[in-house]
Amino acid sequence: MNTSLKFDDSSITVAVVGCGGFIGSHLLKAILERTRWRVFGVDLDSYRIQEHLSNPRFDFLSADLACPDVVERVARFPIVVNLAAICTPGRYMAEAVEVIRSNYDHPRALADACAKSGSWLIHFSTSEIYGRTAIDSASLEEDSTPIVFGPVSASRWSYATAKLLTERYLAGLADLNWTVVRPFNFVGPYMDFMPGIDGEGIPRVLANFSTALVRGETLKLVNGGVAKRCFTSVHDAIDFIFCLFAHADAGVGQAFNVGNADNEVSVAELACLMRSICASIKDVPEGDVPGVEVVSGEDYYGKGYDDSLRRLPSVAKAESLLGFKAKISLKDALEESLRWFVGHYAL
Ligand code: UGA
Repeated sequence: MNTSLKFDDSSITVAVVGCGGFIGSHLLKAILERTRWRVFGVDLDSYRIQEHLSNPRFDFLSADLACPDVVERVARFPIVVNLAAICTPGRYMAEAVEVIRSNYDHPRALADACAKSGSWLIHFSTSEIYGRTAIDSASLEEDSTPIVFGPVSASRWSYATAKLLTERYLAGLADLNWTVVRPFNFVGPYMDFMPGIDGEGIPRVLANFSTALVRGETLKLVNGGVAKRCFTSVHDAIDFIFCLFAHADAGVGQAFNVGNADNEVSVAELACLMRSICASIKDVPEGDVPGVEVVSGEDYYGKGYDDSLRRLPSVAKAESLLGFKAKISLKDALEESLRWFVGHYAL
């Protein structure tokens, strides 16, 4: 890629794999609203994107990358964004093989096809590739932070190791134009699911706490809730992708952290904040919303659970190469997410 993309160029079509997921549904909406491009979208699920199915600039294929024909079809488009993944820690232990297929085998096949066709592959990886970080670890640099994983018996790392191998594969393919995106705990409307309503199992922490607050159940603090995360609004994440589109020349051959380093909190602090936002949304005293309870990781998720204790992104590279900086505060991001959750699942 030696050019930047023009948003008013109606000859451009972008393939978005995983267009029906949390990030994909926001990206699809933004491309249709902010550009004149067409989108070829692939997903098994379309409930988040119903409003776009009749848009003449959107072609939807209900499928996944397990099918070689789908891989070939996607790779015919000049820009391919791959968001498809199994990415909820609740599944990394019991479904390790499926997790590795979805996060290594499928993207690897897509990368081979894009290398052949000359497409630019924007691959969504994860902040989890930084592995088992300590509570006092420094900010994570894309190109210099060393990586430590837990043992094979800690199958939590099935996902991160598969994602990391995919990154290495992309970087090693001589003919591929690639960019890797490492999301740091994106939050917003449509994140994950409510167990028993539109999904099963344990969703990520924001959806899990939102579910507990809506159902009047205690919020579970895994291993005391000491782990820290930088929660990042999905709207900032979408702005990042647009900065990348606009600076394609600077983004090819690079991995980027995408996160908001100003939004760092421990999971216990997150629970406190969400309880307080919930009380204000419902206009009740904080004492009237559910409290918290400490649980062990193995009891909660099953044998083989392990954790990263701190995930603080260095955000300098995205700023210097693409001019991107996340702007949305933790409070605003959480409030938007929880209001949406309460409204969407109003039971
Ligand atoms: C997950 C994925 O594995 C990453 O790939 C992904 O990039 C990341 O989410 C993300 O959303 O960006 P993680 O941050 O560990 O990683 O996922 P969560 O399930 O949201 O857990 C965050 C922390 O909250 C962990 O310490 C977990 O043990 C804790 N937790 C989770 C609770 O204390 N209670 C809960 O109910 C759920």
